[in-house]
Amino acid sequence: MPEVRRYVMRGLEKISSGCLWLFHILIFNYQSALGKIRANMGSITEEKHINLQLGWPSPALFPSEALITASQAVLGDPKIAAQALVYGPDPGHEALRSAIASWLFGFYHPEAGPIDPSRIFVTNGASGALSMLLTRFTDPEYTKRIWAIEPTYFLAAQAFQDAGFDGRMRGVPEDDEGIDIDFLRQGLLESEKEPAKEATFKGAAACPKIYKHIIYAIPTFSNPSAKTMSLRRREQLVQLAREFDALVITDDVYDWLRWPASETGQTQLSQPPPRLVDVDRKLPGTTTFGNAVSNGSFSKIVGPGVRVGWVEGSPDVVKELCKYGPVRSGGCQGHLSSMFISHLVSSGALEKHIQETLIPTYQQRYYAMMESLKTHLLPLGFTISPTGDYEGSRGPVEAGGFFTYINVPTNTLRTSELVEHALDRFNLRVAHGGMMLVAGDPDCASRASQGFGQALRLCWAWHEKEDIDEGIRRLAAAFQSIQAR
Ligand SMILES: Cc1ncc(COP(=O)(O)O)c(C=O)c1O
Repeated sequence: MPEVRRYVMRGLEKISSGCLWLFHILIFNYQSALGKIRANMGSITEEKHINLQLGWPSPALFPSEALITASQAVLGDPKIAAQALVYGPDPGHEALRSAIASWLFGFYHPEAGPIDPSRIFVTNGASGALSMLLTRFTDPEYTKRIWAIEPTYFLAAQAFQDAGFDGRMRGVPEDDEGIDIDFLRQGLLESEKEPAKEATFKGAAACPKIYKHIIYAIPTFSNPSAKTMSLRRREQLVQLAREFDALVITDDVYDWLRWPASETGQTQLSQPPPRLVDVDRKLPGTTTFGNAVSNGSFSKIVGPGVRVGWVEGSPDVVKELCKYGPVRSGGCQGHLSSMFISHLVSSGALEKHIQETLIPTYQQRYYAMMESLKTHLLPLGFTISPTGDYEGSRGPVEAGGFFTYINVPTNTLRTSELVEHALDRFNLRVAHGGMMLVAGDPDCASRASQGFGQALRLCWAWHEKEDIDEGIRRLAAAFQSIQAR
């Protein structure tokens, strides 16, 4: 019996030591595999984060000194401080309205002549102004559709939804000249067949002008496509708006940031394209309210935190905006900051900042990005989406704004997948075309899957040249690694 027990015990010892040995091997292999994965991950994800999605001006470029001077001039003088720290006038500080009007005239030289300050309404930025315009000039029943050029600035969608247009936004494809005008005309004609409804939410006494349609566009250096609309299309769009009782709201927030497209080619810039509001003022037949407003902002040329912008439209549009609820109650929506901006504009500090800091810096970052695209992505089949030219004939000799839009060379890879992979494995963030849909329009979504959705938007404003180059390298590596899977 003891013999048998000894025999069994020895067997068990052997088995358990074998198991232990196997267990050790498994643990060792697991740990070394984990170590390798960690080492690999570390080399990628511990690299500096690069964000080519962010459409923000980089903080190093903020005109802080000029703002300190401006704030001292405003708050250091008791008389001016008293004006700055009370509720502001409804359309904005008079001196700022005049300063903006003459600064805009100096830049655009509109054919219709000088810009009267009565055309300027000071806002808390383009986003806030969009909501104000929709509140005062649309009715969820009477106004039929919101038309937006696709790809669009996707963050604008919420303002349209807030105003009651969820499900009634429609995309209009961008063509070589900035907008497929026949597509829009067809869409407007179709919607005219639907029975007209009364403006049940906005009484005529409270809101004397309600438009039947809103057309939303970013005609110059568009976000996201970087496209500039041709002059011909600008004129056609205004005519179409008049014909169908539409208000064209244009975000004109990038117009100032412009430079020659090539470092070595033509250096002379032409006149900036007229805004749609300029075209509306120039073309015979404009109405009291007009059919276009320009939504301007200091976010990209001073800093988004200042929350100051302006709307230019007919004096009647300005009067209506003064009736916007929060303005009625609280006056100008960004009053104190707007007083600082007033100093910046009238002293010439803003213009100096744009010419001597922003343009030279962004221009160099743009060239760096183009060079890097040429080296790393174009050889892989990526293409840069054409940016157009407002005269429609000279080719893209000017560049500007914040963005470039690049087409991904395959329809089999979803751009959202590429973007996720770039973030997970290469610590790089970029925006993909699928984000730029006109929300709630199923046709726009299906057009995107074969067209503008298969693209990426890259911004050069946030990072310095070296990081831009590194970001493009990582994008190329991300694309190659995902293709190799
Ligand atoms: C086209 C467009 N409109 C509006 C905005 C936001 O402007 P604001 O900061 O004046 O609200 C942006 C910012 O990215 C933009 O690109």
